[in-house]
Amino acid sequence: MDVKVSAAKQIRGSVRTAGDKSVSHRYAMLAGIAEGTSEFENFSSSADCASTLGCMEALGARVRRNGNHVEVDGVGGELLAPARELDCGNSGSTMRMLSGVVAAQPFTSVMIGDASLSKRPMRRVIDPLQKMGAGIESHDGCAPLTIHGAKLKAMVYQPPVASAQVKSCVLLAGLFAEGETTVIEPVRTRDHTELALRAFGGEVSTSGGRVSLSGGQKLRAIKAYVPGDLSSVTFFLCAAALFPGSSLVVDSVLLNPTRSVVLDVLSGMGIKISFIKVEEQFGELIGTIQAEGGVFVGGVIRGAQSAALIDELPAIAAVAPYSVHGIEIRDAAELRVKECDRIDAVVRNLRAMGAEVEEFPDGMKIPGGQKLHGAEVESFDDHRIAMAFAVAGLRAEGETTIKGAEAVAVSFPEFFEALSKIVQ
Ligand code: S3P
Repeated sequence: MDVKVSAAKQIRGSVRTAGDKSVSHRYAMLAGIAEGTSEFENFSSSADCASTLGCMEALGARVRRNGNHVEVDGVGGELLAPARELDCGNSGSTMRMLSGVVAAQPFTSVMIGDASLSKRPMRRVIDPLQKMGAGIESHDGCAPLTIHGAKLKAMVYQPPVASAQVKSCVLLAGLFAEGETTVIEPVRTRDHTELALRAFGGEVSTSGGRVSLSGGQKLRAIKAYVPGDLSSVTFFLCAAALFPGSSLVVDSVLLNPTRSVVLDVLSGMGIKISFIKVEEQFGELIGTIQAEGGVFVGGVIRGAQSAALIDELPAIAAVAPYSVHGIEIRDAAELRVKECDRIDAVVRNLRAMGAEVEEFPDGMKIPGGQKLHGAEVESFDDHRIAMAFAVAGLRAEGETTIKGAEAVAVSFPEFFEALSKIVQ
């Protein structure tokens, strides 16, 4: 599907998005494992989270869905051997986190994914799960994964990459293992798994970069509202950054500090962000924010900040040419192994729109003060690339065509409709 975007004059209005993808994945998995019926309001509308629900059904959970209202009858700890392959679709989170769960079950599971997911690195979860005692066959470190579940041994694990998916995989395996499992994080990553485990009645201890839990814990169903997806909202915040005088109110959005680094970075780049209301639900912060565009100065993103912003970097990079001083992104080589090679994709699309960009193995440098023209750009079948360039098109001269725009459904099916409501 092609979607055309024309130059906008201003960004104004208010938005509320469906529930956060990362939180919804975890709630769906834990609800499937727990005892009782969990109910979620504002569950993510993403195709990725639908993949997780489908896998949990294949493992014995019952799922009822009415739009963003989802009910899950959990199996009470005893998952069933799946009669079919566990289809993770495009979702790395589903495959990496759920591999930890199935590795600890007394049966064999086969996890498959689409063409993009089948190219993404899975050794980062295969290695720790094998150390804990699971038998795993893969296609040279990639999906399909055949996971022969076993009685796992707890362990202390220090992942070589900063990854919440890897941390979660090991913790979820540890939930079923004998003894205490600890993950020591090189760089702090999003902590939704820790918070969700506690929400479902699990005991998890955290101190510094260490997260520990004991195996054999039972989980209880919950009723929860899933806070809006801040990574989806980032596209609108970046759109607001492009227009001095823009004003956007974002209601009921996730403000977990391990995710809200994007708000600090965008404030540092000149967007005024105010917090109107903040509350806590099951350990997750949720609130209403207002963003106002001023002078979008730009800046440098590197080190731990790049890891914390990994999902938001395509949006920030796509608007970088319109900043005053430009934006440099380093220490972000992980972008190359996302749904597509996101450094390559951003560089190609920006160049197609006439921008000057310097590419590095771990990032890019995009000078500021540039004028872009509309062009045909590709989504590279990657939801975040499609959305990032729809936003870049709002300040380009002429029309921008996003090819393969249907990819947005992977995280944010309502994206184009929501964008059209705030563009003037
Ligand atoms: C996610 C963790 C991040 C992120 C992904 C969602 C999660 O991946 O990019 O979109 O929900 O835990 P990594 O764990 O590979 O950094």
